Amino acid sequence: MTKIIIACFLFISFVVYSGFIYTRGTANNIKLSGSEQKMIAHGKQIYQQYNCQACHQIYGLGGYLGPDLTTAWSDPQRGKYLIKAMLISGGNRMPAFQFNNEQTEAIIAYLKYVDTTATSLKPRIRQELH
Ligand code: HEC
Repeated sequence: MTKIIIACFLFISFVVYSGFIYTRGTANNIKLSGSEQKMIAHGKQIYQQYNCQACHQIYGLGGYLGPDLTTAWSDPQRGKYLIKAMLISGGNRMPAFQFNNEQTEAIIAYLKYVDTTATSLKPRIRQELH
């Protein structure tokens, strides 16, 4: 009898747990207005059009000449102004694309969005930095 009760308990736990895990999905509760979505999509389009991924990684995927940009936006040592400066004037090896203000803002919006979705990556990167 005890075995049956334990088996039932385990089975019910499994069903409840599975229900919980599979109905929660991967939604991240990020709410974007229509204009923000347009900006981000435009930034992503520029990112692809100018082949940024040839040198940069996002979520660890891409080329290795330049740094990973997934958390560039929230990184205390990089952030919005370094991104902006790089996009306008370039670096030692980063090409100077001379983007206009509208293009720069779109790329920043895209990188900011990517950053907000990188929840599991952030603790690891902070640990590596310190
Ligand atoms: C030819 C390779 C190359 C391409 C293409 C390239 N980058 Fe870079 N990028 C670099 C390198 C290398 C650095 C590091 C600074 C340096 O050495 O110039 C960098 C730095 C940056 C930085 C500063 C972040 C940091 O951690 O230093 C940003 C932001 C950036 N790139 C964005 C972009 C975007 C957006 C594009 C596409 C429009 C792009 N890059 C295309 C090579 C590249």
